Amino acid sequence: MQTVNSIQELRAIIKAQRIAGKRIGFVPTMGNLHEGHITLVREGQKKADFMVSSVFVNPTQFGAGEDFDKYPRTLKEDQEKLSAAGCNLLFAPPVDEMYPGDQASWATVHVTKVGERHCGASRPGHFDGVSTVVTKLFNIVQPDVALFGKKDFQQLAVIRRMTTALCFGIEIIGVNTVREASGLAMSSRNGYLSAEEKQKATIIYQMLCRTRDAIRSGDKNFTTLEQSANATLAQAGFQPEYFTVCRADTLEPAGAGDKNLVILVAAKMGKTRLIDNIDFVTA
Ligand code: PAJ
Repeated sequence: MQTVNSIQELRAIIKAQRIAGKRIGFVPTMGNLHEGHITLVREGQKKADFMVSSVFVNPTQFGAGEDFDKYPRTLKEDQEKLSAAGCNLLFAPPVDEMYPGDQASWATVHVTKVGERHCGASRPGHFDGVSTVVTKLFNIVQPDVALFGKKDFQQLAVIRRMTTALCFGIEIIGVNTVREASGLAMSSRNGYLSAEEKQKATIIYQMLCRTRDAIRSGDKNFTTLEQSANATLAQAGFQPEYFTVCRADTLEPAGAGDKNLVILVAAKMGKTRLIDNIDFVTA
């Protein structure tokens, strides 16, 4: 697998592949890769002939006081994992390749509504940073198909909206969340947790499953279910940010008549912020 750092080099390689009739698949990441990321690459191989991945810790999606500086950067290990998975090309640009010049010369992509609630509200500017960098990456790579994890359910919804609304003509595929045996969703941020905290964090997925089961058994009192889940998370040592039953399409609060649902959760253990979700259909 070849690694390139410049947009020009990347474009030249991909152009040759496209001329050869290859379908291009793309998996953008911030690196520190785990089985969740690698699953996206493997799923991509079923849909494309030439797989491109990117590793770029995108500064514009981190707020002030967030973990941009300490976000784990493990390029060598990432290259080995991608190569072993059969990825064809890695784009690992420096920050000034993606954001040249000063801020006055940049442009921002903002996705209204679906990007403004939940993480969009608690991390102001976060989804603008994501939408903007993914737009740039889409324009650089020009893939036929791009894969994103359902682990970041709202991010996937924002990318889908953006792709349709801005006519990218790229097929977006959402891939199921890969979990540890304990149920904890794999995340680069799990590395910030001690063994004891990791054990405690298994309560997040347990609460998601318990709440889904209650709803499927006919309990439509979402507010009470949310309050009870928040209390359980707090007892386990979390500061819950939100635990909310939503419509899976718009991510608006669900009503009793809605059938396609997602429960979204964000909670902090000390300084570590974890997110997870579960989507399901109910009667
Ligand atoms: P990152 O957190 O590195 O995640 C890259 C991709 O891997 C995302 O699509 C994410 O949803 C997916 N992913 C992460 N953990 C997963 C898991 N346990 N199971 C399945 N998929 C998982 O998300 C980002 O980077 C950035 O915001 C990015 C889109 C690259 C823009 O900078």
